[in-house]
Amino acid sequence: MKIILFLALIVSSYGYAQSGHDHASESSPKDNQHSDMHGHGSGHHGMGNKDGMMMHGGHHQLDSATLKHFFEPLPASIIDEKKNAALIALGKKLYLDPRLSINDTISCNSCHQLNNFGVDSQPTSPGHDGTRGGRNSPTTFNAALHIAQFWDGRAKDVEEQALGPILNPIEMGMPSKEAVVNKLKRIDEYKVLFADAFKDEKDPIQYKNIGKAIGAFERTLLTPSRFDDYLRGDEKALNDTEKRGLTKFVHMGCANCHNGVAIGGNSFKKIGLVESYETKDLGRYEVTSLEIDKKVFKVPSLRNITQTGPYFHDGSVATLEQAIEEMAEHQLGREVGPGFINDVKAFLGALTSKSR
Ligand code: HEC
Ligand code: HEC
Repeated sequence: MKIILFLALIVSSYGYAQSGHDHASESSPKDNQHSDMHGHGSGHHGMGNKDGMMMHGGHHQLDSATLKHFFEPLPASIIDEKKNAALIALGKKLYLDPRLSINDTISCNSCHQLNNFGVDSQPTSPGHDGTRGGRNSPTTFNAALHIAQFWDGRAKDVEEQALGPILNPIEMGMPSKEAVVNKLKRIDEYKVLFADAFKDEKDPIQYKNIGKAIGAFERTLLTPSRFDDYLRGDEKALNDTEKRGLTKFVHMGCANCHNGVAIGGNSFKKIGLVESYETKDLGRYEVTSLEIDKKVFKVPSLRNITQTGPYFHDGSVATLEQAIEEMAEHQLGREVGPGFINDVKAFLGALTSKSR
């Protein structure tokens, strides 16, 4: 099915480039190795349905079947916020609390700032003692939608993920689960909050419950955008440049990997699929030890992407323009110019939260 989709995209992007429209010269195919993807783990559904692949030559607007094919609007909610109100409130408090770190200096919010689109805007982040890790802090916004957590997918969900940084020696640096639990048990407020959130449990302050609470809070961090309105049928939600950018994004093949409800986050792919990419980070290989997983990373969600730079797993790409250009080159073997980059960047701007 994937191959069919690829062929359709290749055909469509050639047709597109030759359609005599105003951007025919912006992209030039360099090679054709697009079909050697190893898209294991893709959680996406419905790809490769030929009905959805009706392409419109150089027209600027994709038909709704194609849109539905690649994208899905954000659900209103993925957790019952009323029923879980106490759990979510506890999770938010823990997320913001520097006391979860060894020297009371950093919280989840230090690296994933709620008032800054869930990021710290740095290439890599300083931990409790100032030491930086090798990877960029991804946003916590919409992260609960991903197939797995971290750049390499080593945690299965946000509940499991949240337990990692607290004990990570270069992040929050707590020495053990017991040390975290004992520390929280000495704080009266938490006795009340945990008892409220875990009503049936005799001894609610437990390490795994910290993850449950923070995860529940993170499940509320969904950020509806104008693109969601557009997907639901509001034609005016995007302007002409954004619509053109969307068409280019799909026709070029970006949506082959960045698709679904999070416009990414639902598969693992190699960085440098077509043109090799220089990085020391072996990505998913460190989790699976499979040769085929070298330099494979979770495809990032592009929601709020204009706000969450610097980019890539190591934060080495400073601007969105450069990220788009590098993606076209390394993932698709295509050279793109300012026309493509500006239109696609405009489209990506329509993925920014309307409310935050
Ligand atoms: C010192 C900075 C720092 C702190 C503190 C921190 N994180 Fe992170 N976070 C990161 C980095 C860096 C990554 C990516 C690491 C990787 O992929 O190997 C990450 C990854 C994540 C992810 C995965 C997102 C995705 O798209 O895969 C989530 C969710 C997350 N952190 C939530 C939290 C929570 C909850 C806390 C508090 C318990 C926390 N973080 C504390 C830096 C931090
Ligand atoms: C073959 C799959 C694939 C294709 C095709 C692809 N990407 Fe990506 N994209 C990825 C992966 C994997 C990453 C993470 C790379 C890394 O950090 O090492 C990524 C990262 C990005 C980022 C940076 C995200 C962040 O949070 O740092 C942007 C922006 C982006 N892609 C846009 C695009 C655009 C625009 C296109 C089309 C020109 C495109 N991508 C095509 C897989 C793909």
